[in-house]
Amino acid sequence: MKINYYIYVCVALLFASCKNEPYEDIPSQEAGEFQNVLLDFNIPSNFPALTYDLEANPPTETGFELGRRLFYEGRLASDNVVACGFCHIQEFAFTHHTHIISHGVDGALGSRNAQPLHNLAFQNEFTWDGAAIHLDMQPIIPITNEVEMNETFTNVIAKLQAHPEYPRLFREAFENGEINSENILKALSQFMVMMVTSNSKYDKFRRNEGNVTLTENETQGMELFNQKCASCHSGELFTDQSYRNNGLAIDPQYNDIGRARVTGFPADNYKFKVPNLRNIEVTFPYMHDGRFATLDDVLEHYRSGITDFENLDDSLRQADGTLGIPMTDEEKVRIIDFLKTLTDADFIFDQRFSEF
Ligand code: HEC
Ligand code: HEC
Repeated sequence: MKINYYIYVCVALLFASCKNEPYEDIPSQEAGEFQNVLLDFNIPSNFPALTYDLEANPPTETGFELGRRLFYEGRLASDNVVACGFCHIQEFAFTHHTHIISHGVDGALGSRNAQPLHNLAFQNEFTWDGAAIHLDMQPIIPITNEVEMNETFTNVIAKLQAHPEYPRLFREAFENGEINSENILKALSQFMVMMVTSNSKYDKFRRNEGNVTLTENETQGMELFNQKCASCHSGELFTDQSYRNNGLAIDPQYNDIGRARVTGFPADNYKFKVPNLRNIEVTFPYMHDGRFATLDDVLEHYRSGITDFENLDDSLRQADGTLGIPMTDEEKVRIIDFLKTLTDADFIFDQRFSEF
């Protein structure tokens, strides 16, 4: 009988309670060859607490590698082409940058712009309207959605079982070695959980690393951002994770009611999740439907393009009743200067997350 061996690095911040012991929940396995190496997950010192339960699905070397393969695997789609990575492209912080709204198998058009994938381990809910309440459940939507991958888990499992490598990869990644929906979803999560972007110029400045300072313009931009934007795009994740109506005119083509699709409450009509703004320089086009091509368009929306709604967020209505966030041309440019400090080249070119 072999005792399994977990190389374990306890991140003090993360598991303050677990001291130097391995993940307590994981029983030491009895039989078999199963060995796994846990990946080290570091919470950046300027970040909030993690929301993903790492003990329930601890990222391992082999689970992460399987997740990476599955993320770029066309067999998860009915046409064997449209992988997750088709719509979530790394150089653009895993968005579908050329596409205003994403298209899936056979060019079928969705109605929303692909979201960036980063810092997902710190999020409570997923998608623009919060339809997915757990990261492990989120991929069920694209895999089965007819305008995305349009496939069934039964077919995906059959295709992976018939593949020359996947049976081995699943055996290496999971103790029960099964190719089933649970393990597919867990592997995808292990991959996505590790996608942490925390090395932008802004982060280094915040953590006082290597004497990184912001320029005069960037500093002014940060101050303006804190006054005008941080009520919603708050904290180190640049979102308070709430759902708000930020005054986008209704697009009659889709009439996407946003959060109300999930809750059914009319009060939630046209509210969307406050997006995080990390790597925002590369995630164009912007908003849930990709209606704005540039950051200047976005700022012009906040300044002069707000449409009134009964549930328009209060912060977009001034005391005298005028709509929008007042700012000068120069202030707009300064805010954009600041937003560009959130670009993290280490992340968008990190080989660990790329297809090859
Ligand atoms: C056809 C394009 C397309 C494909 C393929 C696709 N996605 Fe997405 N993804 C999107 C769009 C569009 C959204 C926003 C969905 C919404 O708000 O309804 C999204 C949202 C997400 C989110 C939520 C992010 C957040 O911040 O809330 C995650 C996670 C995600 N996708 C992971 C995946 C994974 C994993 C796969 C493969 C199994 C995948 N996606 C395949 C287009 C795609
Ligand atoms: C009332 C809360 C609120 C305030 C204040 C606010 N935003 Fe937003 N922001 C949102 C919401 C909600 C969305 C998503 C709306 C949608 O897509 O339907 C958004 C979207 C964005 C996007 C597009 C992100 C993406 O991934 O497509 C950018 C960029 C942005 N905001 C920047 C700013 C800046 C800069 C300011 C300050 C001038 C600001 N916001 C003020 C709530 C707010």
